[in-house]
Amino acid sequence: MGKKDLKLRILNDSTNSINTASKLILNGDAVAVMAETVYGLAVDASNKSAIKNLYSLKKRPKNNPLIIHVESINMALEVGKENEDFLILAGTFWPGPLTIILPQKKNSSISKEATAGLKSVALRMPKSKVFLRLIKKVGKPLAAPSANLSGYISATDSKHVQECFKNNIKLILDSGRCEYGLESTVINLTKKPYIIERMGVINKEEIFKKTKIITIEKNQKKKKIVSPGQLFKHYAPKKPLRLNAKYPKIDESFLAFGSNFADSKYCLNLSKKSNLKEAAYNLFYYLRKLDNLEKKKIAVSPIPMRGLGKTINERLRRASFEWR
Ligand code: TXA
Ligand code: MG
Repeated sequence: MGKKDLKLRILNDSTNSINTASKLILNGDAVAVMAETVYGLAVDASNKSAIKNLYSLKKRPKNNPLIIHVESINMALEVGKENEDFLILAGTFWPGPLTIILPQKKNSSISKEATAGLKSVALRMPKSKVFLRLIKKVGKPLAAPSANLSGYISATDSKHVQECFKNNIKLILDSGRCEYGLESTVINLTKKPYIIERMGVINKEEIFKKTKIITIEKNQKKKKIVSPGQLFKHYAPKKPLRLNAKYPKIDESFLAFGSNFADSKYCLNLSKKSNLKEAAYNLFYYLRKLDNLEKKKIAVSPIPMRGLGKTINERLRRASFEWR
């Protein structure tokens, strides 16, 4: 391997760069690519050694399975067992930020390292154009966790991916900032009642309204957890978080919400208009910025518990030191 190969390339997404990315992936490398949710680090889901490298790159516990990204319902059904509600959910929300867990087919091409040896498989067809083009070009499902070191704040911009992995990866397809800034919703269809294993962009009310399918949001405090990723402290800055803070203390920077707070060096406002979609878009982006300031802690305004606010609060709780 020449020295040139050891250097990270950051390329705008284009037909050429997607071709390059596809070649790297078919060669067993990981490529960072923008999803509509957060950046993903994509590898060939059938390549055992590529998956193993990915886990070590991310320092990810081996028992935490990956989401398999597909470009169509047909591609999903090559690895997952069909079920009527899957067809309704995928037909309604795909391409989009809904990950669906199905029982895995016996002859599935997915490496067992990617699903942590589980009999199920988590599938998602992203809405991000560059991601879809990449899967089509590779012609196979791609395993792609969020492109951050395990436990740290997810990457919503290519420069975050670069900060995390530096020259340990070869290519980032740079498409700017992610549309939502929060991960996909993960729903488990392997048994009833259907459980939402991870809250995300789409909530149970929206699922019910559009499909009449009933789901249950898992109580994060209960012990029985199916999605192993939900066991860990997550999305966390290096600095301690103090939630539901009215004002910051002297040694704290401030992640604000609502019209009362102007932006300043130590205060970033998620949404002055109290718009939760805007707040989600800024959440991880601003947490990273505040994490890099010289203040000891980060105080966070209360965020309303409605719509996307529920997911934002869940992420903040998991990121705070209250979570054990
Ligand atoms: O928005 C997203 O979902 C992003 C983009 C890149 O698509 N991906 C993402 O992947 O957030 P990751 O690896 O950070 O989170 C995957 C979650 C984890 O909580 C994991 O435990 C759960 O999905 N998961 C994956 N496969 C599973 C399975 N077979 N059963 C239960 N949970 C599973
Ligand atoms: Mg993640």
